[in-house]
Amino acid sequence: MKKTVKRVLAGVGAAIVLAITAVIVNFYVLSPKSRPAPVMSAPTNAEAIARGRYLVHHVAACVGCHSQIDDAVPGEPVVEGKLGAGRDFGEVPGSPVHIRAGNLTPDSETGIGGWTDGEVARATREGVSKNGRGLFPQMPYTTYRETLSDGDMLDIIAYLRTLEPVKNDPGTTSVSFPISMFLRAVPKPLDASPPPSPSPSDKLARGRWLLRTASCNDCHDSVDDKMRKIDGMAFAGGMKFPLANGRGYAIASNITSDKATGIGAYSDEDVRRALEEGKGKDGRDLYAMPWSYYKGMTKEDKDALIAALREVPPIANIVPPSAVTAKK
Ligand code: HEC
Ligand code: HEC
Repeated sequence: MKKTVKRVLAGVGAAIVLAITAVIVNFYVLSPKSRPAPVMSAPTNAEAIARGRYLVHHVAACVGCHSQIDDAVPGEPVVEGKLGAGRDFGEVPGSPVHIRAGNLTPDSETGIGGWTDGEVARATREGVSKNGRGLFPQMPYTTYRETLSDGDMLDIIAYLRTLEPVKNDPGTTSVSFPISMFLRAVPKPLDASPPPSPSPSDKLARGRWLLRTASCNDCHDSVDDKMRKIDGMAFAGGMKFPLANGRGYAIASNITSDKATGIGAYSDEDVRRALEEGKGKDGRDLYAMPWSYYKGMTKEDKDALIAALREVPPIANIVPPSAVTAKK
């Protein structure tokens, strides 16, 4: 072989080695995109704490995911003494993922007592934990990065700082390769605060904001058997929620405005009853639906939420019935 050909081949070889190295680095080493936690300071006045409490309990319902709950009771109430102390969601069936939502109480060892306000805000809106780990997007940070303004974020932190400290370590989420690789691409630094949340006087804008911030999508969008959202099926239902101790499962309803298979034929009162009393239109108790949190929304906010739901385009999708064995 001529020398030049050899040299070209060697060059190609080196380029391939470099490319493979780059891919490996990307796959295994690349941390999520993040920035140093911003310097922020939560207020401590009673009004801010009350606004934060409203968001944490009744809109974003952070405590519904971040507390041990009793799923045998409709509305998923928090187990006594465990408010905000973290939750082990268990293994995702059929996937190498074990999800655990952190302890948000001010306990200094197991909670966020030792976190700065900026670190809590970065985790909540940018998906990066105190130690730089990218968070599993069941934590709705991709929503919060677009809906929680600096003001809302700081009110939320103001309230979290007032929770009773509870010593409880729910453990750390574990995700194995290759899913871990895809997850690293999700967190993104925030370059500007989202705008302040719309005021209740702008009913539809407020309703759309509530619908997003309450993560109704995360349970009501249709997904395939790998839990990936199906395009064009927003709010069309069908996601399955197995209940603890073999008590069956709930299936998320189609809440699009389709008259036959969604809630298009529901009166506002029917929808309000689902949010306030946890009853389907047919009168059944709703399980896995965190209505007991949304129940505390103001009447104005519920009306706005319902108005925004009415705008959801109709999608005909028949959802099989839930099959729950009530607790004896
Ligand atoms: C749908 C369920 C859900 C909701 C609602 C939710 N979270 Fe989370 N959150 C999680 C899960 C699950 C994790 C753990 C993700 C991981 O470790 O990869 C998490 C992680 C976090 C973390 C990082 C904890 C740590 O130790 O790294 C913070 C902070 C946090 N959430 C704050 C909030 C706040 C504030 C709200 C409300 C505005 C909220 N979360 C709402 C599920 C949720
Ligand atoms: C954690 C998952 C989850 C979240 C978040 C959630 N839902 Fe649900 N929802 C469900 C499930 C599951 C059902 C069906 C329960 C059953 O059949 O036992 C349901 C049922 C309903 C129903 C009753 C419809 C019927 O079948 O009569 C309405 C209305 C509803 N949800 C609206 C909402 C709205 C609005 C939001 C946001 C504010 C929301 N849901 C958030 C899981 C969720």
